[in-house]
Amino acid sequence: MAAFADAIIAWQKLHGRHDLPWQNTTDAYAIWVSEIMLQQTQVAAVIGYYTKFMQRFPNIHVLSTAKQEEVLQSWSGLGYYSRARNLHNAAQKIVDDFKGEFPQNFDDILSLSGIGRSTAAAISTFALNTPQPILDGNVKRVFARYFNIAGITNAPKVIQTMWQIAERENPNNPQDAIVYTQGLMDLGATLCTRTKPQCPVCLMNIDCQAYANKQVHLLPTPKPKKTTPQKQTMMLILLKAGEVLLEKRPQTGIWAGLWSLPEIDLNEIATEAAFTKFGIESEPEETLPVVNHAFTHFKLVIHPQPLQVLRQKLQANQTGNIWLPISEAIEAAIPTPVRNILTTLKSY
Ligand code: ADE
Repeated sequence: MAAFADAIIAWQKLHGRHDLPWQNTTDAYAIWVSEIMLQQTQVAAVIGYYTKFMQRFPNIHVLSTAKQEEVLQSWSGLGYYSRARNLHNAAQKIVDDFKGEFPQNFDDILSLSGIGRSTAAAISTFALNTPQPILDGNVKRVFARYFNIAGITNAPKVIQTMWQIAERENPNNPQDAIVYTQGLMDLGATLCTRTKPQCPVCLMNIDCQAYANKQVHLLPTPKPKKTTPQKQTMMLILLKAGEVLLEKRPQTGIWAGLWSLPEIDLNEIATEAAFTKFGIESEPEETLPVVNHAFTHFKLVIHPQPLQVLRQKLQANQTGNIWLPISEAIEAAIPTPVRNILTTLKSY
């Protein structure tokens, strides 16, 4: 019985997406890049970044020889930057360990940084003619509703049940598996959405258990709300003849490897910190509006403090710092809230 897979395939052919830039290719590199970008980001936000990334880094070789800085710059604004660092590291590993050819073996694919079971399965299905079941957030939602699976979708028991379903339903035929896999993704992203499911127009509603039981809005079982902690930071905008000082972030932690504005504690005095850190004498200007930024595990409240540089003590060039014209800084490998701050500043 392949009723579910048949229905998904029929739905995909009629209502799924067919012209995404990473479809209609079997280039494993192109598909790998798309799956990494799509891990935490919606299709509409990915398309522009994807096209530019593929122009700049058209194959594994080019990516593997690029500087991390360039890769991060291409990713700047997409968020979750460990994805870009992992992609870059994995490209180097493919060159070193797999002669520059994207591996075909499932365990070899899984050994690459940034690739988990579902991403490896999507690449295997779309690029390597070897169907493997996927299970990402969208698919979990479709399964929870269609097969009436209650329980929080990151609970080990629920995950186990869902992988069993994923394995059971996955078509063996490679062409069917491509359409089915894309169909699951597209259904979850377009009709079977979390807050506004469009059941009346969904062809899958005939056999959807949640629909039959009027339980659609109760599935998947919501995760208990946890309050996310809030952190405060002050960002110094040191300005000298139209240029702004950026600092390279360490290789670990948030925004690792990106350029950013120097940060100090809220209870420090900005001009004093500028002097201690950089030997800069400065004069505060009017503060800019506070910027809120949500990370997965906490919220960051940023207080931007512009400072006009009066004088800088002569000192050896500090590595990891750079003065850039504001318009160039906006184009650099910087996090989105910092770009927003600099854009606001430019408009003043
Ligand atoms: N999300 C993850 N992979 C995807 C794909 N190949 N197409 C559309 N959305 C996706």
